[in-house]
Amino acid sequence: MTRTADSYIEEYFSSGTIADLPRDHFIGGAWVAPASGQMMETFDPGKGRAYHSFAAGNAEDIERAIKAASSAEKEWGRMKPSARGAILAKAAELIRKESAYLAVVESLDSGKPLGEAEGDVGGAARAFEYYAAAANALQGESFPLGHDYLGYSQPEPVGITAHIIPWNFPLSTAARGIAPALAAGCTVIAKPAETTPLTALLLADILFRAGLPAGVCNVVTGTGPEAGAPLVKHRAVRHVTFTGSVPTGINVMREAAENVTRVLLELGGKSPVIVLADADLDAASDGVIGAIYENAGQICSAGSRLVVDRRIHGELVERIVAKVETLELGHGLKRSQFGPVNSQLQLDRIAGHVDRARERGLSIVTGGNKATDPATGEGWFFAPTIIDNVPADDPAAQEEIFGPVLVVQPFDDEAEALDIANGTAFGLVAGIYTSDFSAAHRLARDIDAGQVFINEYFAGGIEVPFGGNKHSGFGREKGLEAVKAYCRIKSVAARIG
Ligand code: NAI
Ligand code: MG
Repeated sequence: MTRTADSYIEEYFSSGTIADLPRDHFIGGAWVAPASGQMMETFDPGKGRAYHSFAAGNAEDIERAIKAASSAEKEWGRMKPSARGAILAKAAELIRKESAYLAVVESLDSGKPLGEAEGDVGGAARAFEYYAAAANALQGESFPLGHDYLGYSQPEPVGITAHIIPWNFPLSTAARGIAPALAAGCTVIAKPAETTPLTALLLADILFRAGLPAGVCNVVTGTGPEAGAPLVKHRAVRHVTFTGSVPTGINVMREAAENVTRVLLELGGKSPVIVLADADLDAASDGVIGAIYENAGQICSAGSRLVVDRRIHGELVERIVAKVETLELGHGLKRSQFGPVNSQLQLDRIAGHVDRARERGLSIVTGGNKATDPATGEGWFFAPTIIDNVPADDPAAQEEIFGPVLVVQPFDDEAEALDIANGTAFGLVAGIYTSDFSAAHRLARDIDAGQVFINEYFAGGIEVPFGGNKHSGFGREKGLEAVKAYCRIKSVAARIG
């Protein structure tokens, strides 16, 4: 019998943990204890307290995972694409069937409100459904070499792929990388973030139960330096998908370069939401709030800058502040509207950014401080914050804060809006709110970002390619683009006449 979310939640609040959470690595289709015997703790951000321990992996564990992936490579790569697709489709079905458990664990480990975690689990299932179909549709081309020649290309799996997963969307980021890699016929070794190791382990187990051969998808947990670094620098790895910070991304790219291994980097952002004077202000204010306060702002594609026409600046900020001040803070498993941030470290980083903004004399119109769950006085919360009238070159408008902090940047005309929007080192996404179709598409054309949302921030789904420009990285996840990232093209030219 499948248990409900409420029964897991009750178990957690009465016992302080959930029984039978995974502890070991998942390697070669089995739970494998860490070579060093060392464990580390994962925390509940809503209480600021450890609730479970898991394997602290190292280079030896990575070596075992590489061996498992190598020995599974041929079987998986040569399997009929439709058979690969069927396994991915079965995994999607199991994710949906076990969604209550997955969502509770995701909410507990990351801190995010349960409703958001449920959305992420649905997104993970969609990724497997979508790439199940894509597995069947991968094909090459033929080339017009003339009567006496035959020229064609064929996509091949690139080989063993490494996936370095961040803590803000642990399950859905794992899924959006692993599903297309598997569809392409690659094998996988994933290293989840040290604060959110659990749902990637559960996903590997689900894939195995869905029929994935042992060793095709492995998960090694542990820290970046101890478990992540030996993975990305391993000679046998042929592709690295990395989601995380710019400095770590640069490091990963440097390590991968030593082996001429390809990388796909999904780094940070400082994405603008441009609101023109003719926008529907209800839709725009709700859109802006979702864009920056979902997951307490810990989203690479968060809309962290409100770039607003000066004529409606006062009115829009007033509306947003009024709604933000009604958001209910609370433990993620209590289905709050606004949860804690993921770690003490991240909380301190956010507070540091806001304290420095205050010291520079910027105007903080709401929030601006650390907070706790009003029901318990516990947890790592930061109040939803808005900083108004931020100059374009101020660090608050330039640096990724990765927390619930919106900066407001008024403009006088479309050209200035564009200058402000494009005026950071990042180029991940941008939002536009307007009722002027031409203005929307002029801006969409001229904005330097990997994707643009018009009149609904975060519109789209797994079908839409996603990735950054400039320091936000390169390569595209999601959509059919993502499968191409895990393929290499072989072209064949033959004289036949
Ligand atoms: P990070 O980039 O250090 O960590 C991300 C992942 O990389 C984790 O799984 C970590 O274990 C792994 N990692 C760390 N060092 C590694 C290494 N040498 N080799 C291989 N893997 C390694 O980011 P962190 O410290 O968690 O957060 C710092 C900032 O990064 C945040 O404040 C935020 O601005 C940004 N960030 C952006 C994310 C995004 O979605 N683009 C996600 C997480 C963080
Ligand atoms: Mg945790």
